[in-house]
Parts: sequence; C-alpha cells; structure tokens
Amino acid sequence: MALNAPVAAVILAAGLGKRMKSSKPKVAFEICGRPMVRHVVEAVRALASGDDCIAIDRIVAVVGHGREHVEKALAPVAGVAFALQAEQRGTADAVASAIPALAGFEGTVLVLCGDVPLVAASTLRTLLDAHRAGGNAATILSVVLPSGAAYGRIVRDASGRFVAIREAKDATASERGICEINTGLYAFEASALRSALPRVGRSNAQGEYYLTDVPALLLADGLRVEALPRGTDDDVLGVNQFSELAEAATRMRHRILRDLMASGVQVTDPATTFIDAGVKIGAGTKILPCTVIEKDVEIGSGCEVGPFSHLRPGTVMADGAEVGNFVETKKTRIGARTKAKHLTYLGDAEIGADVNIGCGTITANYDGKNKHVTTIEDRVHIGSGTVLVAPVRVGLGATTGAGAIVTANRDVAAGDVVAGVPARSLRRKGGHS
Ligand code: UD1
Ligand code: CA
Repeated sequence: MALNAPVAAVILAAGLGKRMKSSKPKVAFEICGRPMVRHVVEAVRALASGDDCIAIDRIVAVVGHGREHVEKALAPVAGVAFALQAEQRGTADAVASAIPALAGFEGTVLVLCGDVPLVAASTLRTLLDAHRAGGNAATILSVVLPSGAAYGRIVRDASGRFVAIREAKDATASERGICEINTGLYAFEASALRSALPRVGRSNAQGEYYLTDVPALLLADGLRVEALPRGTDDDVLGVNQFSELAEAATRMRHRILRDLMASGVQVTDPATTFIDAGVKIGAGTKILPCTVIEKDVEIGSGCEVGPFSHLRPGTVMADGAEVGNFVETKKTRIGARTKAKHLTYLGDAEIGADVNIGCGTITANYDGKNKHVTTIEDRVHIGSGTVLVAPVRVGLGATTGAGAIVTANRDVAAGDVVAGVPARSLRRKGGHS
C-alpha cells in the first residue's frame, strides 16, 4: 500500500457488558471524566495531530446494545458516524455492519474495541507504520503475556510466520499454551476486508462470526499478513467489570498526571491527586495533595490548588489564583491572583481579580428551583463566613463583614462596606446595602 494511503477507523461498541450488571453499555462508563469509548476515539483523533500526522478519513462506531448511551457518549466529538449492528453475532459481523459506512473508502481500516480504553495513539502509529512498511493486507497487534488467558492465540509456523488466530475456546491444548495473544487491534486494507468478511463462517465453539478468522482467509488468498508483537499491557486491558474499570482509571490517571508534570505542572502527591482527561493547567501551577479536578476545568499559570480542593466542571482559574483547603467550585470563574483558601463553596460565580474570599464563604446559588449567579468584582474583600444569596453582585473594591448575609438582589455598591444579617451598608446612613 502507498505510504500515505488514507486511514479510517472502526470502533466496536455494540456489546452490553453483562458483568457490569447495568442496562448502560460498558463502553459508556467513564474513566477520568470521559466515557471509555471516547478515549478510544480520542486516541484515533490524536493520530491527526503532531508533526508527522496521519489524516483520519472517517471514524465509524458500531453500536447496538444501548446505542443511545454510546451515541450520547460520542456526541461531543465531531465527525463520528454510527453503524448499527442489530444483533450481536460476533466481531466479524460487527465490522461487516460498518462496511456500508465505509462506502467509497480505499485505504487502511483500523479496527479497535470500545472497551479497551487505554490504547495510545503511539501504539496505533506503530501498528500503521509496520502495516505500511510490510505492504500487508492485515496486521494484528499482539502481545506476549505470562499466560494467554481467555485471549485469542497467535499461531505461527516453524519459521515464525503468522498462520492464524485461534480463539481460546477453540484452541487445542498445545495452542492454549501459546503466550502471544491477539490484542484485538488490527489494520486491514479496506479491499481485503471487504473481500474476506462475507467468507467468515460461524462453525466454532461460540457459533459466532469471528473477525479473527479474517487474517487466515487473507493469507490463503496469497496476501501478506503479519502479527506484530509490539502491544503493551495497556493495549490489552479490556474492561468487563468494575474492578477493571477502576484499574483502567488508575492507569489513565497516572498518564494524565505524568503528562501534566512533563508540561511544567507541579503535582506534589500524584497518589492522592485526581485530574480528569482534558483538564488544562498552565506551567508553574502547583497542585497539592488530596485534590480532585473534574472535566472541563481550566487553570492558568502560577496558580495553587489544594490541599483538599474539589474543582468541578466549568471552573476557570486565571493566572496566580489560589484555592485551598476544603474549597469546592463549580461553573465559576476566578480572576487573576484571587484567593479562596479555606472552607468555601463557589458555584455559578463570576469573580474578578485580586479578590480575597474569606474562610467559610458560601455562594447560595440554588433557590430550590433554579441556579443563580453571584458576581464579585475586582478587589472585593469578602469577610469570613459571608453568605452571598444569588442573584447578587458585589461591586468593585467593596467589603463584606464577617458573618454577613448578603441577600438576593441586594447588590453591594462599589466601595461600600456591608455587615450583618441581612447585610446593610455601614457607610451610607441607615442604608440598605
Ligand atoms: C476478542 C478477540 C480475541 C482477542 C480479544 C482481545 C474475536 C473473535 N476475538 O475476543 O482474539 O484476544 O478480543 O480483547 O474477535 N462486539 C460487537 N459486536 C459483536 C461482538 C463483539 O460490537 O457481535 C464488540 C464488543 O462490544 C467488544 C469487542 O467487539 O467491544 C470485542 O468483543 P468481545 O466479545 O469482548 O471479544 P473477546 O471475546 O474479548
Ligand atoms: Ca473483550
């Protein structure tokens, strides 16, 4: 094949995942703030970035069980097409369901599983490079494990050439002893895949159409097929039950932390720091122990977060801002150099620069029906234990006294000082704030 032939990806995600005991398909369960299947799609998309990028012509997700969950999980990612596999009749049948969505495509088709979330773009690149260099019709990513467990075995001939993939349930005793296994990640030439799929039968132990029969069919056609033993532990970690979901999350979390640290973020205790995928943090920011930072959070440079902080989605911290012990934020912008260091809840808030939020401050954002916004302008000083009942605005440079309850719609004027319950101006005679 041409070295720059186009690439498409098919992601198998029609399975239910019985061992999760949930009506939600397993690929929709989240790891570090993203559904598993989305991590797989992002790995494919990452091929298209960087120096020697590989353009991705299209991505097709094969859905079936709980398809609405899978479609929703992938909705934030542009350009994913969905193919329906009405009945789960095996992995070859799943790929066959994607063939109509590959109409007109000529080039290399990557096949991935939606329940193997840690697959890395670098692995996909290794697979594609070998596939292209070998002029292969099919390349199977394999890995050598201490034991083959329930995986498909890579059967080779006496000279080490690939012969076939044998599913564990169909393997002979001696084949079961093989430790090189099929990761379930493949590169196929589209034309070869189209010609072989209709020839796959189902006379096997599980009565299923196995995608793993395709390579041997292509070999018999005289085409080149290679099993590439370059997979990693992460490339085989399939998630079938909650213990594996937790294991995958732990590995993904450490990968996220490693990447952040490499980009100049100081994480003082990775063992107790939880940061979701896609969180942006500027260089020179320090993350202290026991901190949880959820998806859709952006933190600038020179910030400090933690110990014991919980930043929820929609939190944006400008450069030099600090949040500390037992501070929870949600959908809140925190301006440059603003500090909220202790025992505070900031939700649906717009906070300016150089603000000090005293210990124990609460934005009371929820009236039982709706959420409301609290606005705090630049250089405000919020006294300890202040409750700001939204919607409310505290003007430029104003101060609230300790224990003040600033009630809804009673905005504090710029430069004013308010105190009490409900808060009243100490500057304007007899005045309401
Ligand atoms: C498959 C491989 C096996 C390999 C292993 C690696 C086959 C026959 N076997 O086994 O060689 O070692 O992966 O993890 O392919 N799916 C569908 N529709 C179907 C069946 C499966 O979409 O009809 C999806 C599943 O949701 C899953 C993926 O395909 O994401 C793999 O299917 P699964 O049944 O888990 O295959 P394994 O038995 O693990
Ligand atoms: Ca599996």
